Amino acid sequence: MAKIVFEGVRKTFGDFTALDGIDLEIRSGEFLVVVGPSGCGKSTLLDLLGGLSTPTSGRILLDGKPVTGPGLDRGIVFQQYALLPWRTALGNVEFGLEATGVPRRERRARATEFLDLVGLTGFEDRHPHQLSGGMRQRVAIARSLAYDPDVLLMDEPFAALDAQTRESLQDELRRIWQRTGKTVVFITHGIEEAVYLGQKVAVMTSRPGRIKEIVPVSFGERPETAAVGTGTGTGTGPQGEELRSSPEFARYRHEIWTLLHDEVARAQQLEKEEASV
Ligand SMILES: Nc1ncnc2c1ncn2[C@@H]1O[C@H](COP(=O)(O)OP(=O)(O)OP(=O)(O)O)[C@@H](O)[C@H]1O
Ligand SMILES: [Mg+2]
Repeated sequence: MAKIVFEGVRKTFGDFTALDGIDLEIRSGEFLVVVGPSGCGKSTLLDLLGGLSTPTSGRILLDGKPVTGPGLDRGIVFQQYALLPWRTALGNVEFGLEATGVPRRERRARATEFLDLVGLTGFEDRHPHQLSGGMRQRVAIARSLAYDPDVLLMDEPFAALDAQTRESLQDELRRIWQRTGKTVVFITHGIEEAVYLGQKVAVMTSRPGRIKEIVPVSFGERPETAAVGTGTGTGTGPQGEELRSSPEFARYRHEIWTLLHDEVARAQQLEKEEASV
């Protein structure tokens, strides 16, 4: 059985149709990346899956049951995560566990473990303003992983980071995904990021937002990235780089670029037409 199913999902805001006819199946443990022109409805799609809003028509099933609201089975990481500024890194991760009824002592142990998983050992007592953007994003990721959701929903979580930090976090995310087998839905504007991370890349059309094509990405004997990201945010090492500069990588990048390019051109044309009336 599919982990997540979108069945004829449509979402309108007033008379504007943001999403239409979304049919999508995501298997358990799958890493799906969604790309599409700005404003095509990616965040809307993720919000629906997160239970932060409801479809105008159609439905979304999680483990066969309709999504009716947010739940601890789904962890969400946004582009700019609102960490609690008055809490330390540890306190922020513990906060995510308070709702789950985990006893205080165990909360501390688990928060420590997850900060370690994202490479933040030694930074437990820092407050958000004492952390870099990349570190803050790691805290946000640790926070959403700590309560062990089956599904991780990520809306451009690395977009605001510099290239090296981003690549390092990509490696860490893949490592975490390989280790935990979570189902990941990851939104990005970055084609390279999509190819690097995804097992499948869904390309969306705009106005209304639909799934245009799903490109399966596979590198055969993909190098294990587990040894690469040590959490200090310093690049990806030769394996990551080797993959990124391989001919297969370039082929996928070009394929997705072409799909996306056509869509962006179409969206711009629509905008121009609207502006001239
Ligand atoms: N609450 C809302 N009310 C009205 N319109 C909305 C609302 N939320 C989103 N929209 C519109 O729906 C469309 C899709 O928005 P959405 O944020 O999902 O796009 P996106 O693909 O995530 O864009 P970006 O890549 O820029 O983040 C946009 O045209 C947006 O203006
Ligand atoms: Mg968005």
